[in-house]
Amino acid sequence: MALLKHLLLSFTIIIISFVACYSTLQEDPPSSIIYIDHSPSIDDGRTFKNLIKQSTNVLSLNRFDKRSSLKKLSVNDYGAKGNGDADDTEAFKKAWDVVCSSGEAILVVPQANYLLKPIRFSGPCEPNVEVQISGTLEASDDPSDYEDDRRHWLVFDNVKKLFVYGGGTIDGNGKIWWKNSCKRNKKRPCKDAPTALTFYNCEDLTVENLSIENAQQIHVSFQDSVNIKVSGLTVTAPEDSPNTDGIHVTNTQNIQISSSVIGTGDDCISIVHGSKDVEATDITCGPGHGISIGSLGSGKSKEFVSGIRVNRAKIFGTKNGVRIKTWQGGSGSASDIQFQNIGMDNVTNPIIINQNYCDKKKKPCKKMLSKKSAIQIKNVLYQNIRGTSASDIAVKFDCSDKFPCEEIVLQNIDLECEEGDDAEAMCNNVELSYLGNVRPRCNSKKRKAFTTITSIWKYFSWYI
Ligand SMILES: *[C@@H]1O[C@H](CO)[C@@H](O)[C@H](O)[C@H]1NC(C)=O
Ligand SMILES: *[C@@H]1O[C@H](CO)[C@@H](O)[C@H](O)[C@H]1NC(C)=O
Repeated sequence: MALLKHLLLSFTIIIISFVACYSTLQEDPPSSIIYIDHSPSIDDGRTFKNLIKQSTNVLSLNRFDKRSSLKKLSVNDYGAKGNGDADDTEAFKKAWDVVCSSGEAILVVPQANYLLKPIRFSGPCEPNVEVQISGTLEASDDPSDYEDDRRHWLVFDNVKKLFVYGGGTIDGNGKIWWKNSCKRNKKRPCKDAPTALTFYNCEDLTVENLSIENAQQIHVSFQDSVNIKVSGLTVTAPEDSPNTDGIHVTNTQNIQISSSVIGTGDDCISIVHGSKDVEATDITCGPGHGISIGSLGSGKSKEFVSGIRVNRAKIFGTKNGVRIKTWQGGSGSASDIQFQNIGMDNVTNPIIINQNYCDKKKKPCKKMLSKKSAIQIKNVLYQNIRGTSASDIAVKFDCSDKFPCEEIVLQNIDLECEEGDDAEAMCNNVELSYLGNVRPRCNSKKRKAFTTITSIWKYFSWYI
């Protein structure tokens, strides 16, 4: 009852502050953002989100006003054919050079099919550069075109205040790479394959309304970048395409990914080392491997990730729901992480922390790795997560005995098996607390005793 009262009270306060904020917002957006910081918001973040949304709308309106004055340069004016057959790489490079060096310009890709080899769209550019993709960019599927750099197809490198949008499609044409992957064809060596679209060393970047499909490997990667807004992306690849992560965030700070639909053969979103203040909001994910922090700490590396917030997601038919995975032998930490308001539908491991991760196909596992150190996993909140698990174990915390997972909170969790049976939680070396209704709960001691008894029994039965 006390809790309910408290909630009601805080809700009222939030409503009041929302109204107050909203009216300030109309006149003066920047000061209202400061105001938000002072509002006593302890809700699930939804109100806060709305405010952020309001202020971004105001900011992007300003941007749209300015945009009408930018001059448009079509790739067709630089010799691109757009017939899906001719190589349009040089035309794109020329057009980019003009747009980048003049500034105040939009590189326009009209509705046609452009065949492209790897391209690096490099900065620094003069201010106000945009890329409007209405047509389709299709990757060359001749691996010899990637000899100089096997890891990238399209790269935006060192550009500030870039805006990429337009409703078009970026098609990695990845079949040949999947076929030759060591995960598909065990006899082949594990080699890199290109990331379809990479933003490297970018600052104040907005990416909006694009489809990215059938990437050679990762679909979109944000690397060594800061202040990024991503929204309205549709990312698709077959469920059995290897390593085709949807959105990959590495060493990038302050990035908001929102309103995006992702279904691939690997993680929908993967967040790895050096990333901080990453928000993923309104994400639809499936099929694939779910939303993942890590892997971290491979090859004994020291890595840090913090300030991750996944809010409002629908995850279906994936191998994992929300996952944190680290290798043994690494060091550093993954901390200050929130997973909130998530619906799971037939997800094999809806909630999972794996501190003993190993990708057997890539590196030798277990025996080779030191257990002397681990990435510290700390301060993780799971809040309002409901739905179904495809396996019996809906919650799995497999933490290291020397570096247990700390300050893990489960709040209002309701997960059951796909068939409607009760699901289980498996918990090793985790400092856990429960708030509200939590189902399933850990019962690790009982389970451990149980498995010990069954294994003793199995042992005996051998001799009988
Ligand atoms: C992106 O799509 C949304 C929804 O259709 C639309 O409101 C918005 O204006 C689009 N953004 C751009 C930059 O075209
Ligand atoms: C649930 O997932 C399992 C394993 O991924 C799959 O075999 C099964 O067909 C799925 N069930 C439904 C109803 O989609």
